[in-house]
Amino acid sequence: MSAVVNKPLLNVLDGRREPVPPVWMMRQAGRYLPEYRATREKAGSFLKLCFNPELAAEVTLQPIRRFNFDAAILFSDILVIPYALGRKVDFVAGEGPQLEAIELPETVQKIRREVDHGLLDPIYETIARVKPQLPDRVAFLGFCGAPWTVATYMIAGHGTPDQAPARLFAYRHPDAFDELINVLVKASTTYLIRQLQAGVDAVQIFDTWAGVLPPEEFARWSIAPTRRIVLGVRDVIPDAKIIGFPRGAGASLERYASEVPVNAVGMDWMIDKTFARERVQTLKPVQGNLDPLVLIAGGAALDRSVDDVMRAFSDGPFIFNLGHGITPDTPIAHVEQMLRRVRGS
Ligand code: CP3
Repeated sequence: MSAVVNKPLLNVLDGRREPVPPVWMMRQAGRYLPEYRATREKAGSFLKLCFNPELAAEVTLQPIRRFNFDAAILFSDILVIPYALGRKVDFVAGEGPQLEAIELPETVQKIRREVDHGLLDPIYETIARVKPQLPDRVAFLGFCGAPWTVATYMIAGHGTPDQAPARLFAYRHPDAFDELINVLVKASTTYLIRQLQAGVDAVQIFDTWAGVLPPEEFARWSIAPTRRIVLGVRDVIPDAKIIGFPRGAGASLERYASEVPVNAVGMDWMIDKTFARERVQTLKPVQGNLDPLVLIAGGAALDRSVDDVMRAFSDGPFIFNLGHGITPDTPIAHVEQMLRRVRGS
C-alpha cells in the first residue's frame, strides 16, 4: 500500500475505507447539465467536443464546480479508439454512435494494427489542461472501453439491445474476432498508458456489454482481454490504479474480481447487494451502484435507495456511484439530494 494521500478516492483504490465514501457519477459531464449543452453547441458536434482540448477540459470541470465530486472523469468517448484505428465514427443526435459495420471476417485484416496517436493527442492535451485546475482532493480518472464492448459497436456499426451481431460474429468467426480483440487490447493498453503519463490518477475500463455473454464467453472475451490490458499497463506503470466495470456480470462479478488484477470493481444496479458485499467486496474495493432511474424519480424512493447502497457497502472500501451513466432527463436537484444523503450534509 502506498502512503496516505489527500484524495479519498485513491485511498479507496489502495484498499482503505473512507469514513464518507468518495462519490462521482458515470457520465457526470453530460446532457443533464445546461452548461454542457451550451459548450457542446459551441463545439459544433460531440466528436468535435471530444477533440477540442479547451472545450473538453471545460466540460470535464463543469460537474466538479457544480457538485464538488471526489473525481473528475476525462471528457471523451470509448469510440475514439475505433476512430484512431481508421474506422469511420459518427455521432448522430438522438440516434447515438454510427460506425462502418464489420460484416466479413476479412474486414478485420484491413483494420490498422496500431492506433494513430496523432489523432488522440488532443485528448492527452485535455488531460494536461484539466490537471492543474482540479482541487487537491479530487482524483482525475481516465478511461477506455473494454475490447468486447468496443468490438460490439465496431461489428454492428451502432448500438443494439443485445449485441447479437457481435455475439454471432464471435461464434461464426472466432479467429477473426480474436484478431480484432487483440488489436483492441494493444490499442487500449497504449491509450491508457498515455493517459496516465499525461496526468490522470487512475483509469476505468468500461465493459458496458459484458452482461450479454454466457459465463464461458464472458471469461474469454471480457475477463481475459481486460486482464491483459491491466498487466500490460502495469508493465510500464507498475502502480497504475485501475477500476474495472463489467456491467451485467451478475454472479460472474466474483470471478472477474478474482481474475482481473484491477484495484476495484464497478457494480451495476442489478447486482444482489448481499452477494456483492460478501463475495466481491471481500476481494477488493467496490464502486456503485445506485439505479440511474431512481435518480430521475427523486423523493423518498431516492433517499431509501441511497441508504440501501450505503448500508450494503459503506462498512468496507467503497466508492459511491451510479450503477450506470446518468441519463439526460435527470433533474439537477436530485443529484444534489443524493450528494447530501451520501455525505450526510
Ligand atoms: O462519464 C463522463 O462524463 C465522461 C465522458 C464519457 C462519455 N462516454 C461521454 C458521452 C464516457 C466515460 C463515455 C463512455 C462510453 N461511451 C461508454 C461506456 C459507458 C456507458 O455509458 O455505457 C459507451 C458504451 C459509449 C458509447 C456511446 N457514446 C454511446 C452508446 C453514446 C450514445 C448514447 C448516449 O448516451 O447518447 C455515446 C454518446 C456520448 N458519450 C454522450 C456523452 C456525454 C452523449 C452525446 C451528446 O452529447 O449528444
